[in-house]
Amino acid sequence: GILATSTRTHEENGTHSMASVQSLTASVHQRLANALSAALPEAADADPLLRRSDRADYQANGILALAKKAKANPRELATRVVARIESGDLLKDVEVSGPGFLNVTITDRAITENLAARYADPDGRLGVPYAENAGTTVIDYAQPNVAKEMHVGHLRSAVIGDAVVQILEFTGETVVRRHHIGDWGTQFGMLIQYLIEHPHELDHEGGEVSGEEAMSNLNRLYKASRALFDSDEEFKTRARRRVVDLQAGDPETLALWQKFVDESKIYFYSVFDKLDMEIRDPDVVGESGYNDMLEETCRLLEESGVAVDSEGALCVFFDDIKGPDGNPVPLIVRKSDGGYGYAATDLSAIRDRVFNLKADTLLYVVDARQSLHFKMVFETARRAGWLNDDTTAEQLAFGTVLGKDGKPFKTREGETVRLVDLLDEAIDRATAVVREKAEKVGLTEEEIAENGRYVGIGAVKYADLSTSAVRDYKFDLDQMVSLNGDTSVYLQYAYARIQSILRKAGEARPAAHPELDLAPAERALGLHLDQFGELLLEVARGHEPHKLAAYLYQLASHLTTFYDQCPVLKAETPEQVENRLFLVDLTARTLQRGMALLGIRTPERL
Ligand code: ARG
Repeated sequence: GILATSTRTHEENGTHSMASVQSLTASVHQRLANALSAALPEAADADPLLRRSDRADYQANGILALAKKAKANPRELATRVVARIESGDLLKDVEVSGPGFLNVTITDRAITENLAARYADPDGRLGVPYAENAGTTVIDYAQPNVAKEMHVGHLRSAVIGDAVVQILEFTGETVVRRHHIGDWGTQFGMLIQYLIEHPHELDHEGGEVSGEEAMSNLNRLYKASRALFDSDEEFKTRARRRVVDLQAGDPETLALWQKFVDESKIYFYSVFDKLDMEIRDPDVVGESGYNDMLEETCRLLEESGVAVDSEGALCVFFDDIKGPDGNPVPLIVRKSDGGYGYAATDLSAIRDRVFNLKADTLLYVVDARQSLHFKMVFETARRAGWLNDDTTAEQLAFGTVLGKDGKPFKTREGETVRLVDLLDEAIDRATAVVREKAEKVGLTEEEIAENGRYVGIGAVKYADLSTSAVRDYKFDLDQMVSLNGDTSVYLQYAYARIQSILRKAGEARPAAHPELDLAPAERALGLHLDQFGELLLEVARGHEPHKLAAYLYQLASHLTTFYDQCPVLKAETPEQVENRLFLVDLTARTLQRGMALLGIRTPERL
């Protein structure tokens, strides 16, 4: 049923102070389950299989299977169940339909009272319980590469990862963030050697460098050293020797390497800042951070027989994991020249995350093109006993960002598109959209600029988050900032419109009036709000932010229907005005919370 998790909260564990408000769905579920076991004692733990329905508020389908098992007539059993249901103030009508379904309608009073309890919840949980069995998740996301430009692939990892972090934390999970940046490897020999020979290239005299300057410094250096590397054999030899020095931990070499890392971080942080995303420096633990563990990782794998020598290289073999050409591929943990690669680092990172950080879930928000790598790495870690049924690893693989033409996203010159350029363009477009209404809304230039950023960045994030991660999606700015359809700006306008109504309400304050009858559109909106808690737990459990995006879009759609059918400030009685203000205010809070979990701002005036 829709209620896979009970709504028991951490209160029993003493972790969180407030129990969240139990959903109507959970209450109905409980009543039906009680009636089921009263009517059929052997059905004590049976699931009534409750679903939202168009015919009534809910439909319960669970009786059919039960009747079959008990060799009873389903309609008869259904009638017996109905007779044993305790309706109280909750249920208005339960009726048997079809071969033995139950159609359940709840009272208007129950809807309003339940929503009012959420509205009054001082913890602002909006009906979202803490997850049972919350644990520790280590999530690997937002991991660009030092001395390299950031592209749309890095955008996806950052946006999806950040949403998953926020959602998990909101449900009570302990989350450790790891930004596994590419800060190690042979290319640093070339870069460092060049810097030794041109010592002042990365010096900043006075003042801070901007992100853009940092990147252009790195680009310049990269190009110059590359050119030298390709044309000058002696430089090439010196660069190769420099790699050995780096791996041996030579202090002078390390100091210069650190300069590249620091310069790159200035750039990364400026981009993440533009993305309105908090990245904390201690969470940036790049590939180099596992350097000291590589040797031991290999030794452990070798001693346990998980990895074996193959022509001088240390490898793990798999029968059931095949490469793109259908042939089995080994995982190379250590190359025959003694060098460690990407896999050794990831295996060491698993040991660190499981044994030091005490993770019980490892998540990797990484491009689907690296799925083979992670399959092999996870299987190796399982064989080594580092992962098991209690400690699991999962790649949240994401697809490719495509251009409007449906081909991988490239500039007209065929180069990969710089992430910053894309973000700037989104902000420009969004600012134009905001400006169109700015006069009517009375926005200052400053507010226009701020809203432009929130709408532009929100559009980019939402487009990414509103399709399931594994799917490729088209980067289409026109569509992203469109006011109609499944876009963030549509949701942002829905939020701002409510704020505008609340400002215009004058003396009238939002207040719940459970005695009032509700119009169909009010009930639909209310019942959708009721689903927020269970939906969010499901989203957290499955690491699927796109389902939250879909929920919010439906919420905004219910709101649109509600406006069409139910005047708010011009409602018939003062009580109805108050009740509708309360309903839209709760909707606004839910929208705002949901959007915030996706990393998207909701401006008050738009
Ligand atoms: N830096 C890599 C890239 O840009 C992503 C790192 C993914 N994380 C990991 N633990 N391997 O492709």
